[in-house]
Amino acid sequence: MPHENDDPTLPGAAPPGRGVTRRSFMQTLGISAAATSALGGEREATAAVADDTPVLGPGPVPITLRINGKPHTRTVDPATTLLEALRVDLDLTGTKEVCDRGACGACSVLVDGRLTVSCMMLAIDAVGAEITTVEGLARGDTLDPVQESFVRHDALQCGFCTPGLVMASRALLDENPKPTLDQIKKGLSGNLCRCGTYTNVFNAVLEASGQTPIADAEEAMP
Ligand code: FES
Ligand code: FES
Repeated sequence: MPHENDDPTLPGAAPPGRGVTRRSFMQTLGISAAATSALGGEREATAAVADDTPVLGPGPVPITLRINGKPHTRTVDPATTLLEALRVDLDLTGTKEVCDRGACGACSVLVDGRLTVSCMMLAIDAVGAEITTVEGLARGDTLDPVQESFVRHDALQCGFCTPGLVMASRALLDENPKPTLDQIKKGLSGNLCRCGTYTNVFNAVLEASGQTPIADAEEAMP
């Protein structure tokens, strides 16, 4: 499933108009640095304001993230990624860190319902959004149908990719309740499984969408 991005061609930044993107944050630093060296501190503030970009940091800033329906307020370094905020500051370790560069999908969460690699989004960019992590899918003791189906089909080995695949599957079925096998392959193409559990994953998604699981492993090859 395509992941969220501030630049539609690149993985993992904020929707337009919300917060400070990693790029805008770095641009602000660049403007400030240039202004400091060329014009002095007084102009630095002028340059940043003229750019109309909120300046946060460099010290820690208080933010409130809405995660799985509840607000959580923490003070974080402005460079903290959403993934770091989830795992380190909020102890929501269901979201996995594997590549930390937007390549594997293990850290996938939903941000306002859109599949997002949380290692490529700043936590400050997620302020104001509704974030859903794998911990937020079950309703009490009742698992999400995707989770149930992953269990039934034994769609994991080491499990490192599994939360991301579950979130990507949930996002896919929210958008397309009865995807074909090809659509499932495409929808989960941003999520890598080093253990090669694709056959069982595809079967799990087919069954979670009320369709007959495929029996042939060759048919499930990505
Ligand atoms: S850990 Fe984020 S995409 Fe791999
Ligand atoms: S189950 Fe091990 S990486 Fe997917």
